Amino acid sequence: MSDTGREEWSSTPGFILASIGSAVGIGNIWRFPYIVGSNGGGAFLIPYLISVFLFGLPLMVLEFAIGRSTGNSVASAFQSLRQRFFTVGLAIVVIVCLILSYYLVITSWVLAYALFFALNRPVDFGAFTGSYLPLAFFLLSGLAVFVTVRSGVREGIEKVARYLIPALVAILLFLVAFSLTGPGALEGIRFYLLPDYSRLADPGVWTAAFGQAFFSLSVGMGVMLTYGSYLKRGDLFRSASIIAVADMVIAILAGLMIFPLVFTAGVDPAAGVNLAFVTLPSVFMEMQFGMVLGALFFLMLFAAALTSAVSMLEVPVATLMDSYGYQRRRATLLVFAAVMLLGLPSALSYTALRFEIFGAPFLDLADYTFGTIGLIAAGLILSVVGGWYMDRTRICAEIGGCGWQQRIYMVLIRYCVPVILVITLAANLFLAAL
Ligand code: PHE
Repeated sequence: MSDTGREEWSSTPGFILASIGSAVGIGNIWRFPYIVGSNGGGAFLIPYLISVFLFGLPLMVLEFAIGRSTGNSVASAFQSLRQRFFTVGLAIVVIVCLILSYYLVITSWVLAYALFFALNRPVDFGAFTGSYLPLAFFLLSGLAVFVTVRSGVREGIEKVARYLIPALVAILLFLVAFSLTGPGALEGIRFYLLPDYSRLADPGVWTAAFGQAFFSLSVGMGVMLTYGSYLKRGDLFRSASIIAVADMVIAILAGLMIFPLVFTAGVDPAAGVNLAFVTLPSVFMEMQFGMVLGALFFLMLFAAALTSAVSMLEVPVATLMDSYGYQRRRATLLVFAAVMLLGLPSALSYTALRFEIFGAPFLDLADYTFGTIGLIAAGLILSVVGGWYMDRTRICAEIGGCGWQQRIYMVLIRYCVPVILVITLAANLFLAAL
């Protein structure tokens, strides 16, 4: 605790690890590889690098700056910029809860699969989601997130990241090394990374890159803002760069493990939910040591997902504490209960009940409305409020002065980021209408 009574990270590395924990999630290990594979392979890295460093990174720095400068989470921080922005901040908090509600469902499948493999009892995805077992795992992973956040910033969030992130990297490196020795390695890498530059003419590839970059870096939702509010010192650009690079390297490595495995097994690289929960498990089941490898893979994915879910839960919890004077324990319990209820339709959509809306599982719809459209809208709000309504001198004070670099930064944050987000939002809505 600082003298202001606000919790604090124990150190800058602790803060960086927690933020990497937030950034590295299901988005890196499972979503990134198939987005690359189906959007021009290696050529996709060009729009992706541009999105990460020109748009994602500046937004992350802005979030850290708002958080640290106001010493508040998103709703109260917005309120301290302009009274009337309080509700706008709350809207972002609601979006985060909605994203968390279905993110936790996927997290719970990962947990289930880790356990099945560890017990040498892999199950078929259809059979698993044809039962009510997913609900038990949904509750279990919710509890894991609840316990972590309840333990506090330093003792919960930071500590969990300190253990899980190094473990995740170690498992990932091991799995990459293993899969690169398989006979299908070269073919897998070719499928994954062989650049098809003609795809860069497709605007859909660019909006996919923007969407993926914002989602993967956990920016635009007040998560990084909240994490920044527990930070006292340190160079924000430096921290944000480390986080962004780590996030990207882990995503690229994940592809280097997945596709060689898939091609060595000689199966079709599927997209979406099937890749992680159908194709890869079937690959593991055919392999020597497949149970161990499968267990390691899903444990790694669970570590990634848990630390991301924790960062999302912290947003509403910090809001209840900052804006409504709740104690952490009560706030966590309340938010946990609310998120479990909110997540129930998504969880039920992949059980025997098959809860569907407009012919699609509720979870898929939630992913699109909240995770894609909601996320971009929240990012837009954040960049506009932070870029235009926070005093320039105040931003400069957080990012090390008002030199030419900072001036370029302000142009990015005030004009480029909002414009890109509007375009991405419009493109996504347009694509949905087709
Ligand atoms: N970045 C996480 C991932 O890649 C997801 C996430 C999004 C977490 C937004 C927090 C906030 O899976």
